[in-house]
Amino acid sequence: MLSPEELRSRAGEFGWFHKIDLGQGVITPGQSTGPYLGPDLMPDMSGKSVLDIGAWDGYYSFQAERLGASRVTALDHYVWGVDLAARQAYWNECAARGELPDHGRDATDFWQPELPGKRPFEFAKEILGSKVEPMVADFATADLSSVGHFDVVLYLGVLYHMKEPLTCLERLRSVTDEVAVIETQAVAIDGLESQNLMQFFGGEFIGDYGNWFVPTMDALRQLALAAGFKRVEPVVSPPAAPPRSLVTNLRRALGRGPAIGPTTHPAFTYYRAVVHAFV
Ligand SMILES: C[S@@+](CC[C@H](N)C(=O)[O-])C[C@H]1O[C@@H](n2cnc3c(N)ncnc32)[C@H](O)[C@@H]1O
Repeated sequence: MLSPEELRSRAGEFGWFHKIDLGQGVITPGQSTGPYLGPDLMPDMSGKSVLDIGAWDGYYSFQAERLGASRVTALDHYVWGVDLAARQAYWNECAARGELPDHGRDATDFWQPELPGKRPFEFAKEILGSKVEPMVADFATADLSSVGHFDVVLYLGVLYHMKEPLTCLERLRSVTDEVAVIETQAVAIDGLESQNLMQFFGGEFIGDYGNWFVPTMDALRQLALAAGFKRVEPVVSPPAAPPRSLVTNLRRALGRGPAIGPTTHPAFTYYRAVVHAFV
């Protein structure tokens, strides 16, 4: 068994997205500051089969296992294979030239078939003594019969990366036997609280050229229903509009602030929505 110092040192050899508690006081230095969705925002996973789509380092897969899931599959491919540093350098060049990137390069120039981005997941799995099974697949295009069916499916932080959100939610529905948890970047628009609207980012959003559509809560709900889910329960809804000072209103009108995401319009507030979508 590794000492805490050895464990910290080994974990430090990887680049992490998630902050994962490896035990002995060692938490992986993930860049994701959260807030992470705790068990209180998850459906009952005890005795359930769980698929975690877009698992990255596996935080939510390991959480599902801790919550008593009988079988957990961590599915990903993009960050496991793409050289994110090279892609970022290219994106920076594109930004400097005022051009949109060619996303086709992800599968060619930036693709690393040996999947180095999966190593942090494998390391955490080994240290945690986990039985979570990885599946390397692009969920947007994979043969769904090879993915299988799961009681609970996690679709966290993935929807806004999809160019075809409705099709992807239909695919999500088809692998879900009970409930899917959908977490996504979302927008609340003052005065249009109950409108089904999708904001399209053909270019960059929050420094990421891979973000495409950001829904309002109503659009998210309607998308899930249109995809075949029978009932959609909001779990994290738009934040109540905070009372704004004159300075805040002025900053928003000038396109400076708020804290989450860019201000494209003073009436827009970005937040992370969560729904449970039942079959
Ligand atoms: C913002 S991260 C979210 C990671 C994790 N689910 C979380 O919520 O912390 C998006 C993840 O989705 C994955 N992803 C993007 N497109 C995907 C696709 N078509 N199929 C499977 N995973 C995908 C990325 O590789 C990345 O791991």
